[in-house]
Amino acid sequence: MYQIIDGKKISQEIKDELREKVTALKGQGKQICLAVIQVGSDPASSVYVGNKKKACAYIGIESLAYELPEETTEQELLDLVQKLNADDGVNGILVQLPLPKQINEEKVIQTIAPEKDVDGFHEKNVGALCVGSKGYVSCTPLGIIQLLKRSGVEIAGKHCVVIGRSNIVGKPMAMLLLRENGTVTVCHSRTQNLKEITRQADILVVAVGKPKFVDDSFIKEGAVVIDVGIHRDENNKLCGDVDFEKAAPHASAITPVPGGVGPMTIAMLMYNCVSSAEQEDQVQ
Ligand code: GUN
Repeated sequence: MYQIIDGKKISQEIKDELREKVTALKGQGKQICLAVIQVGSDPASSVYVGNKKKACAYIGIESLAYELPEETTEQELLDLVQKLNADDGVNGILVQLPLPKQINEEKVIQTIAPEKDVDGFHEKNVGALCVGSKGYVSCTPLGIIQLLKRSGVEIAGKHCVVIGRSNIVGKPMAMLLLRENGTVTVCHSRTQNLKEITRQADILVVAVGKPKFVDDSFIKEGAVVIDVGIHRDENNKLCGDVDFEKAAPHASAITPVPGGVGPMTIAMLMYNCVSSAEQEDQVQ
């Protein structure tokens, strides 16, 4: 029988721990404020931004919402980011991605002050992760490490295979697993003999962005399977990058979709915001 790794429950535990921390910080006169910028009205982005605002309210963090029109220019957005960089009352800045095509995402990300970059996307924070110094880490992979640790999954010495090499998930995931002393292999769209590699994984992290891409034929008996994807299947039901029905019976532990990795991303964003206020932007 496999264990279901309950991201909803674990994220709630983390949010409750952070809520207590924020109450204590407020007692010392510290306020925490996150600025959330959304450009345009992509419905998925609106849901994510709404959830981020709700989590802030729950934990006791003030959120400043900037809802800019679709036709906002790159310069207008850069000006706003710079204004927030200079505002001592703002601890964290988050620009919801994707941005409309007239705006260069990379330029915007690199304009956010690294010490306010609670998404962990700035080159300085990515570099800090690579060399093992303090800095913000991308929330989804950070959340996955928490899921593993809080579910009693040992990482040290294990063969961890990550499918996907994005800057937001795959690459930082690989660095974090390495930091936890895992033996890490990163696979991607050009990998040959993918299944041969994934079948060696003790811990398999799937971030391919294709619905039900990974089935039982990718999985070693007893592996831990972490599913980063979220999609709608042919019946409009939420599903992940992993075909849960087929994969789960072969796993020792697996994350469901929804209720696995998703809720952890927001919990770790809150963690990064609290760290920013504590001025100890450390990685766990
Ligand atoms: N769009 C999808 N995921 C994310 C995320 O983690 N941060 C931001 N800023 N935008 C996103």
